[in-house]
Amino acid sequence: MKEALQKIAQEAKEALQRCQDMKELDALRVRFLGKKGELTGILKQMGKLSAEERPVMGQLANEVRAEIERELSDRQAALKAQALEKQLRDEKIDVTMEGKAVSLGGKHPLTIVLDEIKEIFMGMGFDVVTGPEVEYVRYNFDGLNVPESHPSRDEQDTFYIRDDIVLRTQTSPVQVRMMEQSKPPIRVIAPGRVYRTDSVDATHSPLFHQVEGLVVDKGVTMADLRGALEAFAKGLYGEDAQIRFRPHHFPFTEPSAEVDVMCFACQGKGCRLCKGEGWIEILGAGMVHPNVLKYCGIDPYEYSGFAFGLGLERIVMRKYGIDDIRLLFENDLRFLRQFSE
Ligand code: PHE
Repeated sequence: MKEALQKIAQEAKEALQRCQDMKELDALRVRFLGKKGELTGILKQMGKLSAEERPVMGQLANEVRAEIERELSDRQAALKAQALEKQLRDEKIDVTMEGKAVSLGGKHPLTIVLDEIKEIFMGMGFDVVTGPEVEYVRYNFDGLNVPESHPSRDEQDTFYIRDDIVLRTQTSPVQVRMMEQSKPPIRVIAPGRVYRTDSVDATHSPLFHQVEGLVVDKGVTMADLRGALEAFAKGLYGEDAQIRFRPHHFPFTEPSAEVDVMCFACQGKGCRLCKGEGWIEILGAGMVHPNVLKYCGIDPYEYSGFAFGLGLERIVMRKYGIDDIRLLFENDLRFLRQFSE
């Protein structure tokens, strides 16, 4: 019987050591310690033993049981630890792994260049302001010293909402609004959409964008205008950029000029981009007309100012070599994706 007990102890030990999962472990518990188990089977034979042998065998049997129980629980703990380790290994997150890229939209070329322009003028202390696109005739024409008979007022050129309300044909009405609202010193740019009754072709669109500029203060001169625009050109086209003024006429500035930048493709030699001119027109500008200052309640003997207005589409098209303005408005992703960084 002693041998039988030792054999059970030995077998249990080996079986437990080999055991690899909880289910098997449970089966082993039943096999060795269960009511119909091997140990119980032996104990049932105790009756056949002599009175001396019985306590000795009883003690041995208890020791064997205790040993098997200890080994069982040791093994159980080991298996649990193993399972936890495996789980931790399997569920480990590699924080260095590359993430799934979220595809972001890119900026529209008009926005890219407008952002650059804003940045340049904000660096010179300009505020960025806006005005309404549906505008009173009073702001779009009257306040800007545009004569009653001026052709630009014609229905052929301007979208009329009512006799006294139009879709603004330029950002210049924001000048009048700013001068009416605030006292000099004024130093603002006003970007936005403008509308003209042009039919669509490669270089025309009934909707396009302008950026207006206005500075009003005591003692502002044409030299300040030139300095500001030169700084702007260098900011947009690089340190080598050069500008020139050509005499022009706008009702709301006097004197007025059209401003060219030296062609950045050929450095003034003349090429296809500048149509052999060597220079590219980028904006209209001038000293704010005394009539405009007066209209806005600003004394032209005390204050002076300069203003300029540029067409955003033309600048963007020249900058990127875009030959058809429609590309800027059709939102063809094949076109737009070329500009996203
Ligand atoms: N408003 C003018 C245009 O649309 C541009 C301009 C603005 C000219 C300000 C001079 C001063 O052509």
